[in-house]
Amino acid sequence: MPRYTIVLALIVFGVACVPSPKQDYTLEQIGKLESLVELMRVKAQAADPLFKQRKQASFSEGELQAMMQGAARVQASATTVARRFGKSRKQPFGELAMKLGNSSTELLAAAQARQSARVAAALEAMRGACAACHRAFK
Ligand code: HEC
Repeated sequence: MPRYTIVLALIVFGVACVPSPKQDYTLEQIGKLESLVELMRVKAQAADPLFKQRKQASFSEGELQAMMQGAARVQASATTVARRFGKSRKQPFGELAMKLGNSSTELLAAAQARQSARVAAALEAMRGACAACHRAFK
């Protein structure tokens, strides 16, 4: 591959994509992370692919399984953010971290119940919590 193609690819993908977390953490490891940025990268990696499906009227079994896994990761990250930073940062930081945690719990329950409308609503609520916190604190 010519060098300029590689450079171009780095520019295009580097700008378009959020950096990945340093590794594929277990839920237990997510609970021990201390870096807010790394916790955010875990959230983005888990949630962004799910958010793309939020307008769907129904979900395949595979999509529901992915929802459950992603929801558990966002939940672990959100509760860790709330625990580590919820008191030191001014409100509504901790409240929004908890709101994200609660809506990922709801996503998990909705996916387990295989209720598509509930899944879609939980995805919208999660997305709203990310956006509200970024507007106020990022
Ligand atoms: C409680 C507040 C809060 C919530 C909720 C929240 N974020 Fe963040 N997020 C932040 C803050 C603050 C930063 C800036 C961190 C910094 O640069 O020090 C950030 C930064 C980020 C970044 C940039 C990371 C980087 O590489 O620099 C991404 C990506 C991100 N958030 C994704 C998400 C996603 C996806 C969600 C929802 C699933 C979410 N965040 C929910 C507060 C929040």
